[in-house]
Amino acid sequence: MTKHIILDTDPGIDDSLAILLALASPEIVLDGISTIHGNASTERVTTNALSILELAKASHVPVYKGCDLPLVQPSLLSPETHGDSGLGYAKLSAPLGQAQAQHGSDFLIDQIMSKPGEITLVAIGPLTNVAMAIRKEPRIVQNVKEVFIMGGAIRHQGNTTALAEYNTYVDPHAAHIVFHSGMPMILTPLDVTYQCIFTTDDLNRLLKINSPITKFIADATRFYMEFHDEYQKIDGCVINDPMTLALTFMPEICDYQDLYVDVDISTGVGLGNTFADFYNYEKKAPNMKLALGVRPRMFMELFLERMEKLAKANS
Ligand code: RIB
Ligand code: CA
Repeated sequence: MTKHIILDTDPGIDDSLAILLALASPEIVLDGISTIHGNASTERVTTNALSILELAKASHVPVYKGCDLPLVQPSLLSPETHGDSGLGYAKLSAPLGQAQAQHGSDFLIDQIMSKPGEITLVAIGPLTNVAMAIRKEPRIVQNVKEVFIMGGAIRHQGNTTALAEYNTYVDPHAAHIVFHSGMPMILTPLDVTYQCIFTTDDLNRLLKINSPITKFIADATRFYMEFHDEYQKIDGCVINDPMTLALTFMPEICDYQDLYVDVDISTGVGLGNTFADFYNYEKKAPNMKLALGVRPRMFMELFLERMEKLAKANS
């Protein structure tokens, strides 16, 4: 049975790969995209989302611009990671289409409330839109089918501070609202995504197919690989977001634990840090399924096969 997905995203290089994977996966119907500040400005990531959809001949998917700023923190974009454009060295045509008039957080509410129990929300950027939607319409907590979130670092070091992962660091207050909302959440932290490295060998396999899709992936990931090499001495790039999306239809890629997970919103060095109460000191019920084990090659094979299929269809 196909899953109806709405994607809250800050494209962003790995976000763009998640959009392409969604479009290449028959298990998914991508009902719409809401954009959020993060890897680049909301204006920029909205344009990027429209351009990526047009690149993949999927301009029928509506795009809704979301919040421009975190709830409390100042804006923190990441040009060093994703480039000023948000898509590395990739050069896409300006989109022919435009974003819808409705705000991204209102789109999330309308989709979830109009199809109770049917919508899978995949949040792969800072959680500002999702938090706003919960505050505006608390009933989405009961009406959403499930929520897959890319974010956090549990036993793994941070990628933005020593302790914090980017999405939960950029808007820790939004993450706190979402983590404590009661939504049926599955969290994909750096603990598993950092085992899923897209390498030049993987890229060269895709480049055997001459297609605008493979050229885009090459130009976008070449910048991302340079960042990972310079900042983290990683040979390749961590594709966090497509891995998170893949779990919506191939959950067996990961192993999960039901745990109580929280995020630090104090103003010290731990801001945005996420932690799991493995020994249940707090005596609180689990608030999410936490992905802690992963089969990296199972995911990468899926990703590469789907990209090959999409590239052939757009060659
Ligand atoms: O920390 C990785 C996450 O932050 C990914 O979603 C990436 O796109 C950025 O949003
Ligand atoms: Ca992202």
